[in-house]
Amino acid sequence: MRYTVDSSASTQLHITGKGRNGRIGSIRLFQNGEACAEAYFKFPGYETFFLSWEEHTEYEVEMENLDVSLAYRFRPESVLEQGVEFMEFGEDIRIIDPKHLDGAFCQQYRNRHHFSPFKGWMNDPNGLCWFNGYYHAFYQYNPNGQKWGNMHWGHAVSRDLLHWTHLPIAAYPQIELNGCDGWRGGAFSGSAVVHDGIMQLFYTRHFGKNDRSMQRQWQVTKESRDGVRFTHEESCIWGTPEGVDWNFRDPKVTYLKDRWVMVVGGACHNRPSVFQYWSEDLKNWTYGGILYQETNPRYAIAECPDFFCLDGKYVLIAGYINSDAEQQERDTLYYIGSYKDGVFSIENQGLMDYGRDFYAPQTFSHEGRRICFGWNCCRDGAHIEEEGGANGTLSLPRELSLKDGKLAGTVITEMHALMCEAAEPGPFYLRLESEAEEGMTELLLADGPSASLCLQIEKGEVRLLLKGKMGRQQSGEFACAFLADSPVKTVEAYVDCALVELYLNAGAQACTRRFYIEKAALRPVLKSGNFRIAEYKGIRSIWGADSDKEV
Ligand code: FRU
Repeated sequence: MRYTVDSSASTQLHITGKGRNGRIGSIRLFQNGEACAEAYFKFPGYETFFLSWEEHTEYEVEMENLDVSLAYRFRPESVLEQGVEFMEFGEDIRIIDPKHLDGAFCQQYRNRHHFSPFKGWMNDPNGLCWFNGYYHAFYQYNPNGQKWGNMHWGHAVSRDLLHWTHLPIAAYPQIELNGCDGWRGGAFSGSAVVHDGIMQLFYTRHFGKNDRSMQRQWQVTKESRDGVRFTHEESCIWGTPEGVDWNFRDPKVTYLKDRWVMVVGGACHNRPSVFQYWSEDLKNWTYGGILYQETNPRYAIAECPDFFCLDGKYVLIAGYINSDAEQQERDTLYYIGSYKDGVFSIENQGLMDYGRDFYAPQTFSHEGRRICFGWNCCRDGAHIEEEGGANGTLSLPRELSLKDGKLAGTVITEMHALMCEAAEPGPFYLRLESEAEEGMTELLLADGPSASLCLQIEKGEVRLLLKGKMGRQQSGEFACAFLADSPVKTVEAYVDCALVELYLNAGAQACTRRFYIEKAALRPVLKSGNFRIAEYKGIRSIWGADSDKEV
């Protein structure tokens, strides 16, 4: 195929792809008929090439035997504001306007007010921070399919934590994984700190066999001065503490009291553990022992720990892989306590979310608020792949606080800017209120020709019920059910195209669930019970042209 394209204001072209049918794929650029850049995709797996070109110049792009999974162009100096321009190669080149992604995000199950990558798979939020006027969110990313694959760090920035601009990928899987059948790995989860005008990332490199007979995880770091381009990656913690098999990942770095503290998740003598390291300069790290070890036999490995100070207490968050390998379910727990001389003494603990589809949360602090994003996973494997779709989103941003000794989270108030009159069925926000709940309250949230999603509240129990036929998702059973900690007075629901987030009693408890209901009409229908609808608003897409207009 040969295309003609004007480079417009971009100076770089990133192409990820692989050769078709086991052959070598190629891309060549021509200017005025002269070849000026070329790349050959020779490995069996996906490879990325970075080509430079001149701005506002016409090129011919020639591709042979190449399956492109992701392509975009940009100019590093202006990409924070402009975003990358995704490119699709069909009969013609299609260039997608980064300010109007809603046109490309038209799939039935694509969530509209939750962040998702342009296409592909995402999991954990990584490297959350505020740097030089922008909120930065990185995330575990596989652009080459809608399932987990060798990990990249996707990257996006936002001015308000709601509308996001996609940036170039910030970290790639190791080159040696390329075409290494039976091996996997990449740039696993981690965090960012901003210090002395520099953004510094810490994350895990993973290299291992799919059958798990050989696994390695080590911690690395790199820096950026402009929030877009990074220095060469260096390893910062290579070995593991005594008793660690290989599960040793997801460094989260925070300044606590008078030094930098890095927490790392894993297992020690087969117990899920969070390890701590200390540093004065973010370069030299001293092992400070185990910060916390979970004794619940249900859990095997701790992942994505986060440790921070909130309202005068210390809070540890950790995700847990189930000890029953067949069990896909993973829980995220929080612990509240005090922290002195490297010892964390727990006073209270609880679940971060009572649904199944909120995991690996990460927090950061900005202007006195502790903001948390989680990953909306899909634990029951029910995701329906759609052309150009994405699997996984960032949760809505929650502001954390301590309430009655527990960790509470409410969606940030900026969210109101997305709300509008609820005229049509579509993504919505709803607040239910009751003085004292009585009988069974039943409220339909989404209704399709062959399936529905319903909220039930009865005797202090909150249930999400999936009824009918919904792809591979199991129906006729409670998608989630949990007991409220205290009498249910308010329930807030944020309903997106394939995802619901519930917040009870001003964020005292939360519940997140993905759902796949064909041709779902999203709107609340109160069937029974003594709750009343106190507020009902539409929620605009975060990707649309008019998405940032005030109501
Ligand atoms: C959590 C996790 C992390 C790891 C990453 C890999 O979902 O398993 O522990 O770094 O995902 O994608």
